[in-house]
Amino acid sequence: MQQQKIIILDFGSQTTQLIGRRVRELDTFCEILPYNRMPLDDPSIIGVILSGSPYSVYDPEAFQVDLSQIRGKYPILGICYGAQYMSHKLGGRVEPAGSREYGRQNLTTIDRENPLFRGFHPGSQVWMSHGDTITAIPTGFHCIASTETVRYAAYQAGGGERLWGVQFHPEVFHSVEGSLLLKNFVVDICGSRQDWSADSFVDATVAEIRQQVGNDRVILGLSGGVDSSVCAVLINRAIGQRLTCIFVNHGMLRKNEFSDVMHDYKCLGLNVVGVDASEKFLGDLAGVVDPEQKRKIIGRDFVEVFNAEAKKITDARWLAQGTIYPDRIESLNITGKVIKSHHNVGGLPKEMNLQLCEPLKWLFKDEVRRVGRSLGMPEHLITRHPFPGPGLAVRILGDITRDKVRILQEADDIYIRALKQYKTRLSGEEARRVLAAGVPIDMKDGDIEVSLYDQIWQAGVTLLSNVRSVGVMGDERTYEHPIALRAVTSTDAMTADWARLPYDFMANVSNEIINKVKGVNRVCYDISSKPPSTIEWE
Ligand code: XMP
Repeated sequence: MQQQKIIILDFGSQTTQLIGRRVRELDTFCEILPYNRMPLDDPSIIGVILSGSPYSVYDPEAFQVDLSQIRGKYPILGICYGAQYMSHKLGGRVEPAGSREYGRQNLTTIDRENPLFRGFHPGSQVWMSHGDTITAIPTGFHCIASTETVRYAAYQAGGGERLWGVQFHPEVFHSVEGSLLLKNFVVDICGSRQDWSADSFVDATVAEIRQQVGNDRVILGLSGGVDSSVCAVLINRAIGQRLTCIFVNHGMLRKNEFSDVMHDYKCLGLNVVGVDASEKFLGDLAGVVDPEQKRKIIGRDFVEVFNAEAKKITDARWLAQGTIYPDRIESLNITGKVIKSHHNVGGLPKEMNLQLCEPLKWLFKDEVRRVGRSLGMPEHLITRHPFPGPGLAVRILGDITRDKVRILQEADDIYIRALKQYKTRLSGEEARRVLAAGVPIDMKDGDIEVSLYDQIWQAGVTLLSNVRSVGVMGDERTYEHPIALRAVTSTDAMTADWARLPYDFMANVSNEIINKVKGVNRVCYDISSKPPSTIEWE
């Protein structure tokens, strides 16, 4: 049976990816495409969603789409700009709102007979974020919801046409019944069979990989992270020992990470070559201070070391990569500026003539984790926090030495262990959110206990090796380095907030680090969000 899909046309909103995640949570496959890349004549499409946008429909640069390509062919839902755009193009009126409408509002009238609002409660809370507002809808359209200040909070086209617009954002958490609205659209209106699940993905993908690579040999670079690990286990399930994995130690991994992860991989039955190239990387990085320069050297050395190993596998025809969907979504980057060059792994030499195999390329991070569970992988590999490719190199401010790496590894190890040990009880909405993310839990009296580690997206320590501060230990004056602890909550690393860690936890971690890690006499906690800061300091 053909895989059904929803198309989300992206007009550059910050929440477009979130729409995609919500649709996937309904066990329905979806693709996010730039607004002007609507596929023509794809029978697997069952509906189209138009996203929001930073532009006003009147901006000269505003993104335009040819509605005749989709109108009448598929059910359509326009969200915010998507709703304004359709109203504007089809004969309604859009004007600047008196003031920018931002935040929670309640729907004061709702047509609960309308299929889009089936099951809604009176006064349902929605999230608004718009500068323009629809002041007249096209002739024949009906208003199906309003708030106190927004007359046309939702509309449907006339004559039963399956075209809707909503001024609010059903995809964000603060629209309390937003998921219900999307379910009404995706399942009831578009007719999704809801058969996109981790198990069905594994079955279909294993079969696909077997067909794709036949009897060929495949090479894959492992990083210890969840994406490449899940990718390896999935391919291993399809072709067994014909997959060779290469895991390079660049000397700036976490404490014992190389040996621990190699052990995990062996237990999973993977065919892994571990290459310890720490000397080369640390040698080439000696004296380098500039973050971008560090990334370039690590990227170059990585390609060299990886290639030397890959070339030994003379009959390989495929290169597998754990690329996931957010890495590929061609987001509409309005500013077009590069902040950090993250993609530090360059291409393999052309003469190797390898084809790409990217079995996770349609998945969001939480889906990769679900696939990992479906494959029976150990929980600690699946819930592992993201870790930057250049590793601790971008967490040492200043030049990199073995001694600084050791200091950072020790402090990081204490911090991460403590985050895993400290559990807090969650209930209500918070518990629901954590459960939805599928983190491991211990049930106690209806509440759940979750470690701090599992409540946050990513944590780590940065060594301010170019700064010294005075301290006192016993009767001795110390003059050593500060470290900064970082812990952030996020769903995709595009934006992040600093985690509100409990004070007693921070006090214990600070004591333990200063007492045990020689070279550190001060511990700070980083309380900046992204934007305007970034997750890593470099
Ligand atoms: P920033 O610091 O840009 O980080 O907020 C966002 C996410 O990307 C990770 N990161 C990197 N990952 N190579 C990588 O593979 C890099 O050079 C790199 N720099 C940052 C970071 O850990 C966070 O998850």
